Amino acid sequence: MRIYQSEDYTAMSRRAANIISAHVILKPNCVLGLATGSTPIGAYKQLIDWYHKGDLSFSETRSVNLDEYVGLSPHHEQSYRYFMQSNFFDHIDIKPENTHVPDGLAKDPDAACAAYNQLIRDLGGIDLQLLGMGHNGHIGFNEPGNAFELETHQVTLADSTIDANARFFASRDEVPRHAMTMGVKNIMTARKILVVVSGEDKAEIVCKAFRGPVTPEVPASILQLHPDVTVVGDRAALHKLAEAGETLCG
Ligand code: F6R
Repeated sequence: MRIYQSEDYTAMSRRAANIISAHVILKPNCVLGLATGSTPIGAYKQLIDWYHKGDLSFSETRSVNLDEYVGLSPHHEQSYRYFMQSNFFDHIDIKPENTHVPDGLAKDPDAACAAYNQLIRDLGGIDLQLLGMGHNGHIGFNEPGNAFELETHQVTLADSTIDANARFFASRDEVPRHAMTMGVKNIMTARKILVVVSGEDKAEIVCKAFRGPVTPEVPASILQLHPDVTVVGDRAALHKLAEAGETLCG
């Protein structure tokens, strides 16, 4: 695991975008595993900027997103499909048919999850999986206690996740209670993983996840066992790791 410390959110985002763009340049038809949430937005902005400058093209790139709320249409402003369109896909030259997000309106979510696993296999697996991390250590919607062996599946959201996401909805009651998410197994079979973390509020869980025991109680801790993980964080998110003696790259 390589851990890069950047001064602030902007520098962290630029570094994450650099890593993603290197993949796209070296393998234009690569499969990117993508994440929503607030942390990767700066990296997406930077990639859009480089695309507009002509430094980068996504015309052959394929993408698979980690997760989606069950019950939200792609046009719902809080759906993850909507997030990806408005924060990234609508601003670059990726072909719409090459972008994949679990279908929140699937009549049979379990069948849709199985089909998503098959899709990932048909694409040849994920070259680079981008991840954010929740305050409880969740990755995707893999909440504490979820089995590590699962592939894409339907989950009931933890109360803490509903609380954290309530800020995006008119009220807490409107936050969907279920989601479809790639499982830890899908994530761990990605060839490379890039984790982005930002802010003091992540410092504690970052330390637990990357220096604590590997346990389903901290889903991101499994990443310690992946052979090719890069963590990119800002000083605020990484300072507890540094204080605990972890070597950070500058
Ligand atoms: C997003 C996702 C989540 C977020 C996590 C961190 O697709 O699967 O696991 O990465 O909740 O979210 P932020 O970046 O908003 O702190």
